Amino acid sequence: MSSSEPIASDSSPSNSSGLLLEHLGQVIEQAGGWISFEHFMHLALYEPGLGYYVAGARKFGAGGDFVTAPEISPLFGGCVAKQCAQWLEDVPAQILEFGAGSGALAAQVLNALQRMGRDDVRYSILEVSPDLRARQEQTLRTLVPQALDRVVWLEALPAEIHGIILANEVLDAMPVRLLHFDGAHVVERGVSMGANADLQWAHRPVDFSQIEQLRHMLSRVGWGEPNQWPAPYTFELPDMMSAWVNTVASHLRQGVMLLIDYGFPAAELYHPQRQGGTLMCHARHRAHPDPLILVGQQDITTHVNFTAVAELGLAAGLDLLGYATQANFLLNTGLIEQLSTMAEQAGAVQSLPYMRQAQAVQTLVTETEMGELFKVIALGRGMPDIAMGFLQGDRRHHLGLD
Ligand SMILES: C[S@@+](CC[C@H](N)C(=O)[O-])C[C@H]1O[C@@H](n2cnc3c(N)ncnc32)[C@H](O)[C@@H]1O
Repeated sequence: MSSSEPIASDSSPSNSSGLLLEHLGQVIEQAGGWISFEHFMHLALYEPGLGYYVAGARKFGAGGDFVTAPEISPLFGGCVAKQCAQWLEDVPAQILEFGAGSGALAAQVLNALQRMGRDDVRYSILEVSPDLRARQEQTLRTLVPQALDRVVWLEALPAEIHGIILANEVLDAMPVRLLHFDGAHVVERGVSMGANADLQWAHRPVDFSQIEQLRHMLSRVGWGEPNQWPAPYTFELPDMMSAWVNTVASHLRQGVMLLIDYGFPAAELYHPQRQGGTLMCHARHRAHPDPLILVGQQDITTHVNFTAVAELGLAAGLDLLGYATQANFLLNTGLIEQLSTMAEQAGAVQSLPYMRQAQAVQTLVTETEMGELFKVIALGRGMPDIAMGFLQGDRRHHLGLD
């Protein structure tokens, strides 16, 4: 968080945040006074017409709540396109992007591919938010009108996928369950309504022996049974992300999934000092840990467990083609060369557009900004094992797989 000033919430009953709060109250009451955090997060982000991603707030970019890599620089999409171009030598000319946000990445990839002579690539988008879908269409109409007839928006996952799957910062936006260990008991954290119609944390007992995926992950990193854990400790259970990776991977007949997000391998994620977990909220460029305020007006996210993503892909029969930091992936796919080309086109390194892009490149690759925290993973079926994005600095061995 860049400032300690409180962020004002507007949840009067007439606006969408007030309506969402009312709706949450009804759902919680119907459920007997408690809903899991996963259910709460799903409603807060995706409830039709009311949730954060579907209720028309600005969200991305300088005037929104957070900035993602494609909003920072078109060079990001240029690098993704470079990797896609290599893979397109081996797969049908199709890209499927999940959760395309403002449409910036789609526009950048289509533009860059066209500059590389690939104006044959069909681009599908699967987006859960109708509001964002409209925004994506507008972005593409403005930035790549010549490619619009090759873009379609899908209503559901195709039964068979041949080609390249892209998802930038989508896994972190998937609802999670929360488990909390207080030193004696493991409970599931959820949400109830207080006497003043305010949202409150509330927990339920949980049978930890039934929570198989977390047990498996923790045994992988040597945490053993709860009496050996640090306390207090909060874990996120990304059941929805797991189901998504499993389903999408099993629909991929030939091609690659390229997933980009912030996160860690399991051994770094379950660190004794990460006691509060990784849940984070973003509103107007401030990050804070309280999801029960500003409902419907803020993003709620968690860091991705890349060991789990890799394991799920492998279990669905995919090959792990690479795992690297965002910095390494972008440098391997020609970020600096693209910046130099821009300098030549701008006429001078002192030109304002060049200087802006040079600054953006810093943000994308420096360790203290996005370069190290953000990771890129590629899982494929029927693909060669050499991908340019992972030639230097491939960290597959960091994932702790057998
Ligand atoms: C943090 S935003 C990232 C947007 C964009 N990819 C970018 O990099 O700017 C998360 C996006 O994922 C979408 N999303 C979340 N869950 C999804 C799912 N299961 N399928 C498709 N899109 C999803 C959201 O609606 C939103 O567009």
